[in-house]
Amino acid sequence: MTRSRIRGTGSYLPDRVVTNAELETMVDTTDRWILERTGIAQRHIAAPDQICSDLAEAAARRALTHAALTADDIDLVVVATSTPDHIFPSTACRLVERLGIAPGAIAFDIGAACSGFVYGLDVADRFIRTNGAQRALVIGAEVFSRILDWEDRSTCVLFGDGAGAVVLEASEKPGILSTHLHADGRQTPLLNVPWGVSQGYERLEGSHGKVSMRGNEVFRVAVRTLGALVDETLSANGLERGDVDWLVPHQANIRIMTATARKLGLPPSRMVSTVADHGNTSAASIPLALDTAVRDGRIQRDELLLLEAFGAGFTWGSALIRY
Ligand code: ACO
Repeated sequence: MTRSRIRGTGSYLPDRVVTNAELETMVDTTDRWILERTGIAQRHIAAPDQICSDLAEAAARRALTHAALTADDIDLVVVATSTPDHIFPSTACRLVERLGIAPGAIAFDIGAACSGFVYGLDVADRFIRTNGAQRALVIGAEVFSRILDWEDRSTCVLFGDGAGAVVLEASEKPGILSTHLHADGRQTPLLNVPWGVSQGYERLEGSHGKVSMRGNEVFRVAVRTLGALVDETLSANGLERGDVDWLVPHQANIRIMTATARKLGLPPSRMVSTVADHGNTSAASIPLALDTAVRDGRIQRDELLLLEAFGAGFTWGSALIRY
């Protein structure tokens, strides 16, 4: 039976770093508050002329090089993002052109907020397992800085920009072992960007196009939901606490991440954490963390990884992977 396996990883972060100290000069906050509540020390912010496909292309090229493949080898592009280049075409279509992938490939974007990368992995895995594609680029890319209200201290300190990518390919040896996706639209008011194009441009005013979050309430739901997701993923695969080698979580908040690691029976040293340096890069955070730990040698071939995310929607999901 054909399965899918990660062949290469890549990531990209914009050059500009904004530290907590710099944020102290912009809003009523402190380095200490941000570090203690979130674990974030700095974040990367895109240059004014950088758009989503610039970040995504850089990450994708690095993933292709790491996989020792070229654009000619790719027949599926999935981009998870909430901050695309255009309303249409999709950022994935832009990448087909920018990377030089043969016209005729399948390409589309996925909107599942911070869970988008896990959703993208699931979809690409299904394409490959059913012979709809041979080699996929799955990318999470965000320019979240554009949808932040830089006068709202409760949100602007949390997010950053970046992109991460994996090359997923057909394989006899299983890589993606199981995926578990969920959504519940009932709590939209807790976390959203209240404006969208179908409301009309005339309604776009003030902070309407910016992230709005009741963080404290989201926090409680996230911890509870991710705990249940860990149980679901372990039991679906006949695993016990402590059986997974690495947790590669969505990097929203170190306290949420640590609670999930504890639930998995893992010490903090077995959790890949980039939140201090990257902040929350939404759909990009998991592939950025994965690429970081692959390149610094922590994650080794054949190790067992649990990827998990929780985000606006609410959406949440996990992927159990033999790397
Ligand atoms: N600096 C200083 N004080 C602040 C700041 C800040 N940047 N932001 C808020 N505060 C204040 C609040 O006004 C409040 O003050 P008050 O007690 O006088 O009213 C106090 O700090 C406590 O605020 P809380 O919101 O209760 O703080 P909390 O400990 O919950 O931390 C945080 C806030 C970091 C946002 C946390 O709730 C969190 O991480 N939530 C989950 C975020 C998440 O996972 N989102 C999903 C993914 S994102 C996506 O999908 C797009």
